[in-house]
Amino acid sequence: MIVIRTPEEMRAWAFEQRGAGRSIGFAPTMGALHAGHVSLLEAARAQNDLAVTSIFVNPTQFAPHEDFDAYPRTWETDSAKAEAAGMDVIFAPTASSMYPDGYSTYVTVEGVSEGLCSKSRPHFFRGVATVCTKLFNAVLPTRAYFGQKDAQQCAVIKRLVRDLGLGIEIVEMPIAREDDGLAMSSRNAYLQNGERERAQCLSKALREAEALMRDGERDTARLTAAVRGSLTGADTIDYVELVDAESMQPVDAIAGPVTLAVAAYVGKTRLLDNIKFIP
Ligand code: PAJ
Repeated sequence: MIVIRTPEEMRAWAFEQRGAGRSIGFAPTMGALHAGHVSLLEAARAQNDLAVTSIFVNPTQFAPHEDFDAYPRTWETDSAKAEAAGMDVIFAPTASSMYPDGYSTYVTVEGVSEGLCSKSRPHFFRGVATVCTKLFNAVLPTRAYFGQKDAQQCAVIKRLVRDLGLGIEIVEMPIAREDDGLAMSSRNAYLQNGERERAQCLSKALREAEALMRDGERDTARLTAAVRGSLTGADTIDYVELVDAESMQPVDAIAGPVTLAVAAYVGKTRLLDNIKFIP
């Protein structure tokens, strides 16, 4: 496994590999790798000739008051996990090679990046779409792997790739969970003792709503009210929304594939979870 530090060197490597007819599977991350990330790395490894992961805590997707400085950075264990998952390359660019002085170009995906997470994090998806475009331009992947855990991010990336004709297959991987159902997240490390217990209310509330949907409930107001009522361990609810699974636009009732998505604070930690449902 090699470590590459600049987009130019990454692209030179990728250009040579793709030119020789090899497929590249790519799983972008911000590090602090857990089993959810590793499931993406393993799929990239299994389904392609070569596998690349990136570790880059991307400054443009954090607002000034957010946790950019505090975000966990665990290079030693991350590189060991990447190696164990069979990565050929870790692309870990320096911030200045990604965003040189005077950087001024951003990618905005309209519609699908509105609502949900962008209500409380208005610059977030612009930062994600920008950095993923730059990462794709360096890694030249055949397939790129994203987690359903960040469902709106996945929808944004799929739209970005389609609209700009990037010719990358986006593979959406299921949510890896802890034994009690909590969706794995690098930010779970922020949870204090009692908070960790309370955090399981997100997945529990969604499982209960899924049972209602399977029993035939189709009404958004009743489903979201049920989820809110079950989020007893959360300190603040950011949103509970039922949206079209592709466009991320709210629906009044279930008529096609939907995503039921929750963002809530337990203590100071903002947690995300969601389920997909196809009637
Ligand atoms: P990060 O939060 O590190 O997540 C990297 C990838 O891992 C994302 O596609 C995310 O959805 C996936 N992931 C996280 N938790 C998961 C879980 N429990 N199960 C399955 N997959 C999971 O998302 C980002 O980084 C960044 O926004 C990035 C795309 C790298 C751009 O900076």
